[in-house]
Amino acid sequence: MEKKKLVVANWKMNPKTLSEAQELASAVRQEAFEAEVVLCPPYPFIASLKSLGAQDCGWEQSGAYTGEVSPAQLKDLGCEYVILGHSERKKYFGETREMVNKKAQAAMQAGLTPVMCIGENIEQEMEIALVGTDPTRLVLVYEPEWAISTAEHFKEVTPEDCKIAVDAMRKQFEGPILYGGSVDSRNVARFFQRGGVQGVLVGSASLDAHEFIQLVKNAVLA
Ligand code: PGA
Repeated sequence: MEKKKLVVANWKMNPKTLSEAQELASAVRQEAFEAEVVLCPPYPFIASLKSLGAQDCGWEQSGAYTGEVSPAQLKDLGCEYVILGHSERKKYFGETREMVNKKAQAAMQAGLTPVMCIGENIEQEMEIALVGTDPTRLVLVYEPEWAISTAEHFKEVTPEDCKIAVDAMRKQFEGPILYGGSVDSRNVARFFQRGGVQGVLVGSASLDAHEFIQLVKNAVLA
């Protein structure tokens, strides 16, 4: 049987309230999708939503690290996946590729699957990203910073551009590769059909229940 497509919803620092988050999650969950749908809400909502994913984690499992959340804590809440190395972490919070790699190793030790973002410098980034990790328990995302819908200098990635990047990643990695950057219900099918990916990472379009449900349906049909 073909493996299910993976759709990871990165809610970022949205929505503002738990009740809005509950409303969005329950609308999405009313649908029975033939895809693996992973909601990644902000930390404070994870327990109440019983979400499968988180947007980041620290690189220690416990201890004196004010403000951090550990992979062990996420695992204990029922998370299975954690997004790591998102370009916004790098841009606004000074995260380096070495830090991302430490987080990936810690996440794996806790039994989580890292969903690791790779930007424009594919080869160098992957070289650091994969150190000490088990590549059979890893998901990679091709997501150049400029393709994100909220990017200052936005530039579109076509499915053909995506395919070139995915082919380059394939030289070093056999597992699932996703595409992220302005994916919506209208363009999602093309990334599966011509972009060579097994899933997508979705930001803005995951915040509207109707749009996100349509996106997942179109992904399944692609
Ligand atoms: P976007 O965000 O879908 O709004 O472009 C994707 C992401 O940043 O992961």
